[in-house]
Amino acid sequence: MTEPNAARVLSGMRPTGQLHLGHYHGVLKNWVSLQREHACFFFVADWHALTTHYDAPQLIAASVSDMLIDWLAAGVDPEQATLFIQSKVPEHAELHLLLSMIAPLGWLERVPTYKDQQEKLTEKDLSTYGFLGYPLLQSADILAYRAELVPVGEDQVPHIEFTREIARRFNHLYGKEPGFEQKAERTAARLGAEKGRFLELRTRYLQNGDAAALEAGRVLLAHANLRREEREQLGGYLEGGGKIILPEPAAKLTAASKMPGIDGQKMSKSYGNTISLREDEASVVKKIRTMPTDPARVRRTDPGDPDKCPVWQFHLVYSDEPRQQWVRQGCTTAGIGCLECKQPVIDAVLAEQKPMRERASRYISDPSLLNKIVAEGCDRARAAAGATMREVRAAMGLSYPSLEEKRASPQQHAAVPLE
Ligand code: TRP
Ligand code: SF4
Repeated sequence: MTEPNAARVLSGMRPTGQLHLGHYHGVLKNWVSLQREHACFFFVADWHALTTHYDAPQLIAASVSDMLIDWLAAGVDPEQATLFIQSKVPEHAELHLLLSMIAPLGWLERVPTYKDQQEKLTEKDLSTYGFLGYPLLQSADILAYRAELVPVGEDQVPHIEFTREIARRFNHLYGKEPGFEQKAERTAARLGAEKGRFLELRTRYLQNGDAAALEAGRVLLAHANLRREEREQLGGYLEGGGKIILPEPAAKLTAASKMPGIDGQKMSKSYGNTISLREDEASVVKKIRTMPTDPARVRRTDPGDPDKCPVWQFHLVYSDEPRQQWVRQGCTTAGIGCLECKQPVIDAVLAEQKPMRERASRYISDPSLLNKIVAEGCDRARAAAGATMREVRAAMGLSYPSLEEKRASPQQHAAVPLE
């Protein structure tokens, strides 16, 4: 299991069709390695899928279980990571609503994906309230868990940046509580021998704008033995603001996948050039055998150029140095044929998929296993998001302790006359 102080990681994926080897090499392998060191939350973003596919609910419904099975097949481990479905955790919707009160329209309109997608997906009417709110819903996904790291591709970076701005605005508006400074000063005692240095760093930052002191103060807090609330309180105090209710997340950039499609372009459903994650063996063999090669290599006796051949791209992903040498040498001298060259690629893809097919078969033959994983994941997610929501509601003036007290002891207020 992960250390209690490990950074929280959160990421989501929209269920809009089958996952393929591009997702495996680009995203899922990365999730699998993160789950060992961090408290990871991975979820199916079905509400996000509806913002663009509101006219295709059947597609979303059909993709959700398959996608979860694909994650498990790829090695995402429900013992280590929390897997859940966005729409089963209504806290995301509640936070989205509350954040919408403070989200300036201009910020949403300026998120680059907003205009891009509208221009690209011309067959769809995306001038909806829901689609404009896409990045804000994503902010709610992240902030509900106070996730520190969000593994995403380059295209999602503006959404993380937007989330940071929303969090900052929220903390600025609602992080002021009466007596904050005094409370923080009391908490600083918990730093023990480091207290003096912490206060000195704070003064250097606040009085001289010394950015290095701010950074050193953050490092000091990160290493101190504090509870999360204490760390957040002192973080706010260090920066001269109020309490940090919603910490700003950072994007953890996933290196772009080098996985090509079977035509050499990027592997993508819209190009029809994919090999799906659990595609059956016969189909994989056929797809690779019929892949195009260097068009100049018409006859077996013509030498070829790997740099003009999509099969070479596969060797770059799947073959070690000696085999790559074998390809370059054999191809450029017409020493090997293209089918011969493809065989090790076929073997490597099948070998990669074998454990995935095996893991998936357990879940396919016994759907109750998946139900249980998701039910438990949703419970854990709700507990984590619920804790944040209690603070958010209180900060926005939406907790009514006196009313709640009365509910707890009904006999008392039964006696209160109504008029
Ligand atoms: N927008 C993301 C994508 O298209 C999916 C997503 C939704 C997400 N909510 C998220 C990713 C929260 C990271 C964190 O890939
Ligand atoms: Fe492509 Fe290999 Fe044929 Fe060369 S030998 S053209 S690299 S498939």
